[in-house]
Amino acid sequence: MTNKPTVYVTREIPAPGLEQLKESYDVEVWSEKRPPSKEQIIDRLSELEADGLVCLLTDDIDATVMDASSNLEVISTYSVGYDHVDLAAATERDIAVGHTPGVLTETTADFTWSLLATCARRTVEGYEYVRDDKWETWQPELLTGPDIHGATLGIVGLGNIGNAVAKRAAGFDMTVLYSDVQQREEAEQQLAESGVDITHVDQEKVFRQSDFVSVHVPLFEATRGLVGEEELRSMKESAILINTSRGPVVETASLIKALDQDWIERAGLDVTDPEPLPADHELLEYAPEKLVVTPHLASASIETRQKMAEMAAENAIAGLQSNPLPNSAIEDDH
Ligand code: DGY
Repeated sequence: MTNKPTVYVTREIPAPGLEQLKESYDVEVWSEKRPPSKEQIIDRLSELEADGLVCLLTDDIDATVMDASSNLEVISTYSVGYDHVDLAAATERDIAVGHTPGVLTETTADFTWSLLATCARRTVEGYEYVRDDKWETWQPELLTGPDIHGATLGIVGLGNIGNAVAKRAAGFDMTVLYSDVQQREEAEQQLAESGVDITHVDQEKVFRQSDFVSVHVPLFEATRGLVGEEELRSMKESAILINTSRGPVVETASLIKALDQDWIERAGLDVTDPEPLPADHELLEYAPEKLVVTPHLASASIETRQKMAEMAAENAIAGLQSNPLPNSAIEDDH
């Protein structure tokens, strides 16, 4: 290492971001596929006396991590979500925190729709049917599922991603019901102008009246377990639940009961609690007939993951230069 400031990166992120960092800083990257443990992050930050940390959503960045290097000026997470970073502890220590909002909105909305369609039209079961050599002939009622067009889509949380999901509903002639901590009149109006039939209702109504419920809230104390037994019991028996937000927003034990006792038809999860979901987890007993699970892929388009790397690098660089971050999690949290 030289006398340049040092940045510790907790995983290989796409080249455009790493290259940007390497141009001006000494950069050390954790090169293994599995994340470093918290102790390993602490060790490296302390050993390097790191000035910057680029982390992932799988890293638990609390006060003990921040205190590992007295030089630490900036934490830049390669994610829009920052529930894994203790913002209060960072603020107390005057450490800037960056994240990557905006860039993954449309990509995540695309994926939400693909998961919704996969669940409704039983794509995974169809593939397994062919793979298992069961396809003998065309059958009138083989693997039928509900129509998407004309159905009611419930959106919990009309932030950027919820909004982008709602926008796509116009193409399917759907009725959209949404709940949020506040009515988002401007967003509603814009969506209505682009042809979306959208209404703000109580959260309880979203669950009770929708054919598809898609969850788009960040994870914090108030949203942990937001989808529990009461919500799942109130859903239509034919309804499908989609979660591309954060795993703990849906209570796993309640979802298992809901699938087991047919309170709902099916669920599509891109995020789980626990995450990663072990292959022998009880939830997977319901796949693929009642459950489709993907490994937190919603933002995983080539372009978006590259742009996220650039944004993470830009936030880190701004923090190291004592400039305001282009995307500060601390400011966005207020
Ligand atoms: C994020 O960036 O928070 C997303 O969950 C990654 O897909």
